[in-house]
Amino acid sequence: MSLQAHGGVLINREQIGKDVRHLTKAIELDATSLSDLELIAIGAYSPLTGFLKKEDYESVVLHMRLKDGVVWSLPITLPVSKEVAATLQIGEEVKLQKDGIVYGTIHVRDIYTPDLEKEAVHVYRTTDEKHPGVKKMYDRGDVYVGGEITLIHRIEQKKFSTYYLDPKETREKFKALGWKTIVGFQTRNPVHRAHEYIQKTALETVDGLFLNPLVGETKADDIPADVRMESYEVLINQYYPKDRVFLAVFPAAMRYAGPREAIFHALVRKNYGCTHFIVGRDHAGVGDYYGTYDAQTIFRHFTLDELEIFPLFFEHSFYCKKCRGMASEKTCPHNQKDRIILSGTKVREMLRNGEFPPPEFSRKEVIEVLIRGMKQKEVVVKG
Ligand code: ADX
Repeated sequence: MSLQAHGGVLINREQIGKDVRHLTKAIELDATSLSDLELIAIGAYSPLTGFLKKEDYESVVLHMRLKDGVVWSLPITLPVSKEVAATLQIGEEVKLQKDGIVYGTIHVRDIYTPDLEKEAVHVYRTTDEKHPGVKKMYDRGDVYVGGEITLIHRIEQKKFSTYYLDPKETREKFKALGWKTIVGFQTRNPVHRAHEYIQKTALETVDGLFLNPLVGETKADDIPADVRMESYEVLINQYYPKDRVFLAVFPAAMRYAGPREAIFHALVRKNYGCTHFIVGRDHAGVGDYYGTYDAQTIFRHFTLDELEIFPLFFEHSFYCKKCRGMASEKTCPHNQKDRIILSGTKVREMLRNGEFPPPEFSRKEVIEVLIRGMKQKEVVVKG
């Protein structure tokens, strides 16, 4: 595997401090487009240089490729209202701002009305508005603005700021560590025993693990990122060889697009410098919208030569009381009743009730952090 960025070049669209006072028009960003702006600019979304223009958008929605054929599975778009769209003109540069801060600019190349139902069917495989990704897409805006962006102001990170590294920096870090093969791990959850099992199984064959939790917008009932970060630190300190794992955050919003998002997650981790990427059970899924292994079978649409990151597929893993260890259908001959399988929803429910999920499901130290963290959040919310 090469350590080249996707498309060949690690994109950089930063011009920090650029004077934009002469620009009069501005587009107000939501949390997702703000994080996308920064991720495009730092090269995490290479080869994208901006929000998708119409032809690229249509090609991505229908074929999971940019119009030049490069694999790209999620439409990274800048939605605006019809009213805002009516004020914009092709060819002009417009400020991109949020809460009074100008973060960047876009060169408006395209203003187009997407067929949102078509996008939902192809990207999310459902038009059901109960799907959090579909609902958000419908709510965000009816018109898309496409064009190259420039980032002029970095997002200020108040929490766990040392874990924000740009792809350029993670690549340098992996080099300094002497790692040639690096497996990326995406998660929006605390690391439970099943996650640890598949990470460590992968670690048996590669040089290093890049634990790269997503910390952008998630569903309200997912465990908050700051609580998760503490749980990762505790787990790494106690159960991982420190010179073989590196923790940094992925500040993107979760789309819950299952298979399509698995491809996207893999390509982005390639940009961060990974050679391998873990795809387990129902990757980036939500509810029952996707089959358990849909996020693995989708990789068949592409050759390794065009992905240039090696997906490592894992079966649904669990703790088996008879094996007395973590296992999967591939390695364990015992019955369902011998297996401890807890869903994320069940664990969150237990945590909310102050119950302790069993050690076969999650390390005691992790649960302690989660219970403490969730209690503090409740105090803040209720207080
Ligand atoms: S995700 O939405 O970020 O994918 P999650 O944090 O649950 O959700 O999963 C992180 C990674 O671990 C994904 O690749 C997922 O497929 C994998 N995974 C989660 N639980 C299991 C399990 N029990 N067995 C195998 N793989 C799993």
